[in-house]
Amino acid sequence: MKSYKELPNDAGSNIIGQVTAQADRIQKRLASVKYTVAIMSGKGGVGKSSLTANLATALTLNGNAVGVVDADINGPTLAKMMGVRNATLEYTPAGVKPAMTALGTKLISMDLLLAEDDAPVLWNAYSQKDAFTWRTTMEVGALREFIADTEWGNLDYLLLDLPPGTDRLPNVTELIPNLSGIVVVTIPSEVSQLIVKKSVTMARDILGVPIIGVVENMAFYVCQHCGEKEPLFSADETLDKTLQQLMLGSIPFDPQLSRANDNGTLYLGEHPDAPASKALRQVAEKIQGFFKRSITS
Ligand SMILES: Nc1ncnc2c1ncn2[C@@H]1O[C@H](COP(=O)(O)OP(=O)(O)O)[C@@H](O)[C@H]1O
Ligand SMILES: [Mg+2]
Repeated sequence: MKSYKELPNDAGSNIIGQVTAQADRIQKRLASVKYTVAIMSGKGGVGKSSLTANLATALTLNGNAVGVVDADINGPTLAKMMGVRNATLEYTPAGVKPAMTALGTKLISMDLLLAEDDAPVLWNAYSQKDAFTWRTTMEVGALREFIADTEWGNLDYLLLDLPPGTDRLPNVTELIPNLSGIVVVTIPSEVSQLIVKKSVTMARDILGVPIIGVVENMAFYVCQHCGEKEPLFSADETLDKTLQQLMLGSIPFDPQLSRANDNGTLYLGEHPDAPASKALRQVAEKIQGFFKRSITS
């Protein structure tokens, strides 16, 4: 399939003009954002969204103005995790006002645009079989609009929760060429690390995006009675060396975290002393430290 750049003419649609205009709008919108950070993995179900929601909270609690883009257009979960599923978006001439949590963290998600709980995102094609061909184009388009048309205001951090798939980051860097950095999430299983290493290579060697670091999630469980750490995966599935060097922290499995995600309540507020809360706050500190260091160096 040809890309729009290769078309000899645009059949009057001015597609290049439209895309360029939106790229300009993205640039202008992001002028009021200090750091754009993508949370990614390549792998599904490892905790990208949970980490995004909780890092957004931790960064907000540290006094930062934080916005979140749920870039998982087909499987949006952040509105529920961040407790704003019932929010109604307000449309103003300056753009869409994002939903806001009780703490003041801002969020835009496809979930906020879908009327019914069980409504899947159906792309506008002749049949859903054809929609497959258009999905990537439409996903990038939706993401472009989320970033360009949302009235974010001044933000210290804009976090993007990416869907699984190693091809997702190039789509994002096409929209945000000067992405400030990525946080890569993995679980200790070899299956996850295999895919995650591909994501690291893609980011670092092919796209030249700064890697803030790797977060290991659900590596162990802390017994609530004796405080003993128990691994959740086979004991020899320690983190791969390449990934270990980039480690920002290891978040234990905590059923209370998963419950807070399901209820849309603030885990960090409810269980501030839980080992996973402490680890999440440390990761947030390290992200802040990464940018402080890059300013001074
Ligand atoms: N550290 C954790 N402790 C307990 N549950 C977790 C933890 N991390 C993620 N989960 C749960 O695991 C499931 C998958 O996490 P999610 O953040 O949706 O993954 P992803 O966005 O990578 O697909 C969710 O139900 C979430 O609540
Ligand atoms: Mg997710």
